[in-house]
Amino acid sequence: MAQIFPRKANLVPTISLIAGLGGGVFVVLFIWYYFSPEFTDVGYSPEQPIEFSHRFHNGELGLDCQYCHTNVKVASHSNVPSTQTCMNCHSQIKKDSEKLLPLRTSFDSGESVKWLKVHHLPDYAQFSHAIHTNNGIGCETCHGRVDRMEVLTQSKSLAMGWCIDCHREPEKYLRPDSEVTTMGYTQPTDFLQRNLERIRRESIKPPTNCSACHY
Ligand code: HEC
Ligand code: HEC
Ligand code: HEC
Ligand code: HEC
Ligand code: HEC
Repeated sequence: MAQIFPRKANLVPTISLIAGLGGGVFVVLFIWYYFSPEFTDVGYSPEQPIEFSHRFHNGELGLDCQYCHTNVKVASHSNVPSTQTCMNCHSQIKKDSEKLLPLRTSFDSGESVKWLKVHHLPDYAQFSHAIHTNNGIGCETCHGRVDRMEVLTQSKSLAMGWCIDCHREPEKYLRPDSEVTTMGYTQPTDFLQRNLERIRRESIKPPTNCSACHY
């Protein structure tokens, strides 16, 4: 819990002011509780063992997310790619690059590259990629404009309130299944109506009961 107001440090004076006026620990705790989950991890982008660019490989080269994240529609967990996936190209392209040295070391030793996890839910919360990506929720909705990220960065809070906002009104977010991995997707003007029809037709009903996400 080292980071309480990481990139929102400008909130601190406001909070001290309110705390000063309203008096006491209660206000501070209250604000801390309600605001911190929204901010704690947004913007987190650890330094990776290889400077891998989503902006280049997805945004410019046009590789689909599923070329590397092969499990994302079939499993709860969305894998990061194996060294072999990178070597499909990098056994030929830039094969002497200094930046790719850890990749070649991994290929020779058979030990995976030690990619650091960016997103992380606590163990007591259940999440499945497959159920979301097969029900019209785009990667972009939860991970932002990955195609513009030189360094992969967490862009949404992943807090409970964020999950539930969508579970209450999924019609605001659904997109056609064929657009799930599209970046920069724009909804047609009648999307709300289309989504409401789809929700009825496919009986899409995201859970809001505690036991669906906590068991
Ligand atoms: C479909 C082919 C392809 C795949 C798959 C691919 N890359 Fe690349 N990568 C490229 C191309 C093309 C370049 C740009 C080469 C250039 O600048 O001439 C590049 C550049 C790079 C660079 C910059 C190298 C330098 O010296 O500037 C890094 C680092 C890199 N890729 C890492 C990876 C990693 C890690 C993976 C696997 C997760 C991967 N790439 C998968 C095609 C690919
Ligand atoms: C060429 C392979 C490749 C492609 C294509 C690719 N990724 Fe990745 N992705 C990686 C690698 C390697 C990592 C781990 C290193 C990093 O975080 O940059 C990663 C990490 C991620 C993470 C962070 C995982 C974590 O630890 O929390 C997300 C989210 C992600 N990718 C989403 C996407 C999305 C969305 C797309 C399509 C728009 C995409 N990726 C396309 C290779 C790829
Ligand atoms: C409904 C929101 C949502 C959607 C849609 C979504 N993700 Fe995620 N993603 C998450 C969450 C939440 C985590 C953290 C999961 C955890 O820690 O258990 C995550 C983690 C990841 C990871 C790290 C590995 C893992 O499973 O923890 C990768 C890679 C990833 N997402 C890629 C993608 C790609 C690619 C897509 C689109 C095909 C996508 N995600 C769609 C919410 C989403
Ligand atoms: C942008 C919308 C959106 C967001 C954000 C979102 N979900 Fe969902 N979720 C859905 C939809 C749509 C379904 C599918 C409901 C169905 O199939 O009836 C779903 C289904 C689920 C299910 C039910 C799985 C099952 O087996 O039926 C769980 C659990 C769940 N989500 C957890 C989460 C968690 C945890 C988060 C936050 C980290 C989250 N969701 C964020 C839209 C979302
Ligand atoms: C759609 C999924 C979902 C549902 C439904 C849900 N939760 Fe959560 N809950 C989460 C996630 C995800 C987290 C982790 C948030 C984080 O990492 O900040 C969480 C965190 C919590 C926490 C830890 C404190 C906090 O706010 O972070 C408590 C307590 C909790 N949930 C209780 C409940 C109760 C009680 C219900 C039923 C009224 C419920 N949850 C329903 C997804 C859900």
